[in-house]
Amino acid sequence: MPILILGGQGNLGTQLTKFFSTNYVTVSWDREDLDVLNFLELADRIRELKPELIINTVAYNAVDKCEDKDGYASAFQLNVKLPDFLADLCLDMGSVLIHYSTDYVFSGTETKQDFAENETPNSLNKYGETKFQGEREIIRRHSWGLRYYLIRTSRLFGPTGTSPVSKVSFFDIMLSSASTKNELIVVSEELGCFTYTPDLAESTLRLWETDSPYGIYHLVNDGAATWYDAAQELFRLKKMAISLRPVRSENLFRTARRPKFSVLQNNKVHRLRHWRHALREYFEEAANRSELN
Ligand SMILES: NC(=O)c1ccc[n+]([C@@H]2O[C@H](COP(=O)([O-])OP(=O)(O)OC[C@H]3O[C@@H](n4cnc5c(N)ncnc54)[C@H](OP(=O)(O)O)[C@@H]3O)[C@@H](O)[C@H]2O)c1
Repeated sequence: MPILILGGQGNLGTQLTKFFSTNYVTVSWDREDLDVLNFLELADRIRELKPELIINTVAYNAVDKCEDKDGYASAFQLNVKLPDFLADLCLDMGSVLIHYSTDYVFSGTETKQDFAENETPNSLNKYGETKFQGEREIIRRHSWGLRYYLIRTSRLFGPTGTSPVSKVSFFDIMLSSASTKNELIVVSEELGCFTYTPDLAESTLRLWETDSPYGIYHLVNDGAATWYDAAQELFRLKKMAISLRPVRSENLFRTARRPKFSVLQNNKVHRLRHWRHALREYFEEAANRSELN
């Protein structure tokens, strides 16, 4: 039976498709194949395919836009109704569900900076709120027999997805800003974990292949960093002398509040390598790819 990846051309979905298709018959759908919010069509297509595993990467990730009415409505559909629907379908078909959530379900303080898998979420923003509601739709079906892996992750970076509208990551935004500005303003707070999408895809595959117990997992690269730490490391690696100006979160006037601390502890499985090593590999691989082009 095949493995189905939803959002297969997104940033994470592209890597999952690459990793899973080396070992399994993998079917990858994105917006051009169908609108996942057309639940009737989605159910028909999935029932016809009969996947043993459904991996859902589709989400509404525009954190600030979630704060307004229209953004919240879209987030509710993709982040709550879709996992709710998929959980029911998987339960009915006996398929396993892998779904991704975020560190933004948590909000830490100076004295509480990191979070274990079993801690109770408490989000500061609407995006985190919808992702947590989506989590609950999955978790509550466990007692009825749903087999699931709920993977919380954060700050994804890596090769841009194959979708023509895939978002570029923080590091690529920093690099492109550095080509036009003399000084970059970067938030020197918000301690969290960066995660390289190929590492996350490989760890997801390992979770599946090792028959890990069902439940919640935190998969992020090792080491915590602020956005400022990450920008410093980026320009050090690229040997670029860029002036960085640290700012506090509240001085950026973003619509959604972000947690000052949202480090995810991985207490259950193999740790992923340090994000600095992953970042170095990302740029080495990117350089190799451009040599080939
Ligand atoms: N990005 C992060 O830093 C981050 C941090 C923490 C957690 N996560 C979680 O990790 C997961 C993967 O994130 P990601 O950044 O890889 O997402 P992404 O790049 O936005 O990928 C999502 C994919 O789903 C597709 N899609 C959206 N709406 C659709 C619809 N109605 N029908 C069919 N396809 C649709 C998107 O297509 P279009 O490109 O055409 O919209 C996109 O290709 C999500 O659950 C997210 O919440 C991400």
